[in-house]
Amino acid sequence: MPLIGVVGCGRVGVSAALHVLLKELGDIVLIDIIQGLPQGEALDLSHMASILGIDVEVTGSNDYRDMAGADLAVITAGIVRRADMTRLDLLQKNTSIVSDVAEKIREHAPSSNVIVVTNPLDAMTYVALRKTGFERERVVGFSGLLDFGRFRYLVARELGVSRSSVIGPIIGEHGDSMVLLPRLTHVLGKPLTSLLTAEKTSELVEKTRRAGAEVISLKGWSASHAPGAGVALMAEAIIKDTNAVIPSSVYLRGEYGVDGVCVVVPVVLGSSGVRGIIVLDLDESERREFLKSVETVRQAQETAEKMLR
Ligand code: 2OP
Repeated sequence: MPLIGVVGCGRVGVSAALHVLLKELGDIVLIDIIQGLPQGEALDLSHMASILGIDVEVTGSNDYRDMAGADLAVITAGIVRRADMTRLDLLQKNTSIVSDVAEKIREHAPSSNVIVVTNPLDAMTYVALRKTGFERERVVGFSGLLDFGRFRYLVARELGVSRSSVIGPIIGEHGDSMVLLPRLTHVLGKPLTSLLTAEKTSELVEKTRRAGAEVISLKGWSASHAPGAGVALMAEAIIKDTNAVIPSSVYLRGEYGVDGVCVVVPVVLGSSGVRGIIVLDLDESERREFLKSVETVRQAQETAEKMLR
């Protein structure tokens, strides 16, 4: 049975564990520094599994040794943003938290793949990559499924089609400069650019960019159900070795003409992590928008890097 360690027992960590459990991908260890919290959440999830007749073990611990040899580590630890904060406002505190977590993962789960969920996502993916010292293929950031899921929700409603019929890529930062690609998004082969006006499309893109903050301002804390479901899809691709193509933050080494930055692009995900990076044929304005987004991430990453030295 594979072992999946989820570090950070806030709402996102618990939601990720819940969805991983429902998919029966493996045994789960929840890790958190707060005494009792991971143990209590694990017990609650175990009761849930029992009701549903699911026989996976869920345990909680304050000790990383309990995730020794994990196949997959999910990092959700960190402070979360309030409605008046951007994801980049979290940079300083979360760099130090993720750096510490990554060192523990290197020590106790040296063969694991890592999914980073902590914000600011792309910079934290870089921090985890740096501090685990793993190959870039084994450290990916979660966000593309979340942001595209939000866009898909709006587009499907607008067009009156099922959500699963709206397919497309998302690239760039998990942040205000994220890049949706209406020209490459389609409903069974029909591009969005021929289904919606440019004005309507821009409106939906803007709404997607603001969706995370909208959730926070409405319910008082940041999204958790949607991130949890998305993380489990990435976990499934890795644990079941499906080679699903999933937009994920990954350290680019020349792809898209970008070198040395973690940013979201479509990747092929399997048991060895990133099996391939899909390089999209961007037009001039898409490329410009993407490279601008990359620069935002590069600056955050450089700030984080200075803190790691
Ligand atoms: C979101 O987009 C908090 O980044 C997270 O909801």
